[in-house]
Amino acid sequence: MKQSVKMIAGNWKMHGLGASLVEVDELAASLAAEPTEHRVIICPPATLIERLSGKAAGSAVEIGGQDCHEQVSGAFTGSISAGMLVDAGAGLVIVGHSERREGFGETDALVAAKAEAALSAGLEPIVCVGESLAQREAGNAVSVVTAQVKASTPESGPGRRFAVAYEPIWAIGTGLTPTVEQIAEVHLAIRTALVERFGEFGGAVPILYGGSVKPSNAAEILSTPEVGGALVGGASLKAADFLGIIRAA
Ligand code: PGA
Repeated sequence: MKQSVKMIAGNWKMHGLGASLVEVDELAASLAAEPTEHRVIICPPATLIERLSGKAAGSAVEIGGQDCHEQVSGAFTGSISAGMLVDAGAGLVIVGHSERREGFGETDALVAAKAEAALSAGLEPIVCVGESLAQREAGNAVSVVTAQVKASTPESGPGRRFAVAYEPIWAIGTGLTPTVEQIAEVHLAIRTALVERFGEFGGAVPILYGGSVKPSNAAEILSTPEVGGALVGGASLKAADFLGIIRAA
């Protein structure tokens, strides 16, 4: 399905202090002067969500978290619940990023539980999937990603707002990107898996691409069939780069 309104989401990862908020001022000012039809989302570290959502209020910039706990509350030192993200001003949350799957042992079932917790709290989850280089080289990219989509998207998704992000692990932060044919192949497989899982509703779930998106490759990637947006790491940290991607969409 062709989606004209794209989701352009920035994932700041563990980058950003109070001083970084000027980037959001610049982003919001540029979007006010020259509006975009696309959705513009920044997912800062949790410590900045409240300050950033104050700044973004009334602007075209939406705010998201980078992860949430699957439980509503409890004795989980250091964790943040979906409801806490809402309380701080977030409207979305990334779940199942490969840096969480790999670094924190998050399974498909846990990611699905986090996506459910996000939906219950009123957040829009962006569920990340993606193959490793070894899995791609073994010819298993499509089967790995299809299995991840089926097992880590939220069962109660139909009728609610959520997105999937295809992020090949080998393309994250490396400057390497798949060819448009490779992106199109996996996005089509994700669409098929979503329709198999959710019926007609699965045909409308946005599928973002992530992994070394930058101003110079954004137009080509974002015009690939079934690419409904971009999840951007490094190039989202500076307003000028992020704006370059938004303007290319
Ligand atoms: P990158 O990160 O754009 O720096 O490759 C993407 C991501 O991890 O979401």
